[in-house]
Amino acid sequence: MSEIIEKYQCQFAAFLGAERAFAFWKGRVALYAILKAAGIGPGDEIILPGYTCVMNVNPIKYLGAKPVYVDIEPVTFNIDVNIVRDKITPRTKVIIAQHTYGYLCDMDAVMKIAAENGIIVIEDCCLALGSKYKGRMAGTFGKAAYFSSQWNKPYTTGLGGMVITSDSELAAKIQSLCESEVCLPSSGEAFMLRAQLLIYRLLIYPRTTAFAQNLFRYLTKRGAVVGSSSTDEFQPIMADDFFKSVSGVQARSGLRQLNKIGENIRHHIKLVQFYDQLFKEKGWSDRQYNSSTCEPVLVRYPVRIDGKSEALEKAAVAGIELGSWFESVLHPIETPLDVYDYEPGSCPQAERAAREVVNLPLHPRVNERTARRTVEFITGFNQIKS
Ligand SMILES: Cc1ncc(COP(=O)(O)O)c(C=O)c1O
Repeated sequence: MSEIIEKYQCQFAAFLGAERAFAFWKGRVALYAILKAAGIGPGDEIILPGYTCVMNVNPIKYLGAKPVYVDIEPVTFNIDVNIVRDKITPRTKVIIAQHTYGYLCDMDAVMKIAAENGIIVIEDCCLALGSKYKGRMAGTFGKAAYFSSQWNKPYTTGLGGMVITSDSELAAKIQSLCESEVCLPSSGEAFMLRAQLLIYRLLIYPRTTAFAQNLFRYLTKRGAVVGSSSTDEFQPIMADDFFKSVSGVQARSGLRQLNKIGENIRHHIKLVQFYDQLFKEKGWSDRQYNSSTCEPVLVRYPVRIDGKSEALEKAAVAGIELGSWFESVLHPIETPLDVYDYEPGSCPQAERAAREVVNLPLHPRVNERTARRTVEFITGFNQIKS
């Protein structure tokens, strides 16, 4: 392995206080590595929220396991721990604790349920880098955790995923998979990613985001750029080159980002406080999460509104950066939900959130002026309470 990748992994592990880190091409690949190393296979059941990225479900299906969806509680959009127990069967092997938007799951409850039932906890920290629960970093509670550094995430390396674990047995198994099964990104993929990162740095600002995203999705579908998800990832059939390691481009970019991660996190926290204040001035009700246990570093600022589709259309025309995920209980979905074992109506809170939630940007390019403009725009719609 190249020195730069090793350095990136070590620095990432050190930032989180974990023993080991393993970098991959994407976050979903990191989840696949954990599940495979944990011996997950046909017939095993994996509990996860019914409000997630569909790319999270693919690795489960690739291994022949079954996703079992739990509805979310409406304030933090995380699994409702009161209903997790009802979903446990003798075949349940894993609970994926996804810390949605940066809000922490109720980790005391999750860990207790898992311990009582001999189940592994894997934390999905793709949206929660730097968030803390009772003063402890997200990602350090379960057997392992995974992170994403794709375009929309707390920091970006274009595409990217990372596993952290302090379980030496699991780490040895992941190491062995890395040595025997992962493929390398092609030089074309690495070159394209480098070019896209450059374009991103030069051209993508809040006013241009909606246009850029649409163009990017179009080019991805035509295979002209290295997209977040290729066409074959919209169905649960694993491509030959799915299990892919990280490239040097990503590791170099990741190291640069890690060097300024403290600054980035402070920016997110400060901007969230600013949004809170602006919404208060507009008479919108407060965020209701449990601030005595959870110190979230939000990746985006979620709000519930009446008229989500209209808001997204108008925002694109007005040059307001408004995020739409999750648009479906499994986002972005292009395949019928039953292919992913989701039964419509089974997670009513998640379905409601998919209809109502839009998210506001918090990345380093957003300043107070942009935040003010975004709040002016979004408060033209009615807030829906949790
Ligand atoms: C909650 C969550 N987990 C996992 C992933 C997968 O990450 P990646 O796109 O890096 O594979 C995503 C992707 O957006 C996500 O939102």
